[in-house]
Amino acid sequence: MPAFPATRMRRNRQTDWSRRLVRENSLSVDDLIWPIFVVEGQGVVEAVPSMPGVARLSIDVAVERVAEAASLGIPAVAVFPVLDPALKTEGGERAWDPDNLVCRAVRAIKASSPQVGVICDVALDPFTSHGQDGIVRDGVILNDETLTALRLQAVCQAAAGCDVVAPSDMMDGRIGAVRAALDAANLQNTQILSYAAKYASAFYGPFRDAVGSKAALGAADKRTYQMDPGNVQEALREVQLDLDEGADMVMVKPGMPYLDVVRAVSGLGAPTFAYQVSGEYSMMHAAAQQGWLDLRRVRDESLLAFKRAGAQAVLSYFAVDVARDLAAGR
Ligand code: PBG
Repeated sequence: MPAFPATRMRRNRQTDWSRRLVRENSLSVDDLIWPIFVVEGQGVVEAVPSMPGVARLSIDVAVERVAEAASLGIPAVAVFPVLDPALKTEGGERAWDPDNLVCRAVRAIKASSPQVGVICDVALDPFTSHGQDGIVRDGVILNDETLTALRLQAVCQAAAGCDVVAPSDMMDGRIGAVRAALDAANLQNTQILSYAAKYASAFYGPFRDAVGSKAALGAADKRTYQMDPGNVQEALREVQLDLDEGADMVMVKPGMPYLDVVRAVSGLGAPTFAYQVSGEYSMMHAAAQQGWLDLRRVRDESLLAFKRAGAQAVLSYFAVDVARDLAAGR
């Protein structure tokens, strides 16, 4: 490339049409997965104070909102149940009750919007009294005992009509265990989205408020199973293991602070998703409320960054807002 003045990088940037032509990455509605929180009741829309614009929805309301998301072209939703603390147990047994909140939500959503992909977390934390993702004995999160529970939970969700089960628990061997359990139950077509590189992050704080696992968890943490934020080689090993065990898609989580991990993982060639987690969403809202950031612009820029880093799709609480703006050509 000749040097200045023969080369002027600004030449291609001087007009909108030219900037559009040379743009390397863009965000479309096809890239978005919308996470939602469901609660018991009828007509319930319960705001989550630490997540402006996000609410816990009863199933009837969730069905309406998902239909709207579908009409905007959003390909898939991720459903998270918020359980009454009285229903939570040491062993999280309600996770594999076919009539639990999440299974009822999945059935209702699929009945009303069959064209929308429904994704469910496979992890015990919404269902355990201690808020951990696995079975605990003497303060230790038991790996292999947890796998037994996860197999039951995944089959239960898939049988309810969930299209994609998404193990988010970070136990070893869970993808192979869940795949084998699904296949044995004649659910060969249920996809697995592995939360393959999931870090022990402080950015999950508002999510834990939303599902009520923060109170349950107290001062405990998840560092014996979620990854250390200092590691990237380990993320590649985690992802490779999950792909070898049968994951159809893999995820990196959180998102924006881990774009280097997204880049590295996407290089393995499997469909790679990123989760723009609750803390990322809330901090943008908080700064915008102060008048310090332009919400729509930081939102769009942060989502585009995932595409640039190599992600095929992004889970984002902004999904519907973005889809609305894209549909309106904004
Ligand atoms: C549960 C789970 C968490 C999130 C998704 N699934 C929280 C955690 O691991 O404690 C976080 C999502 C978010 O912060 O938006 N296994």
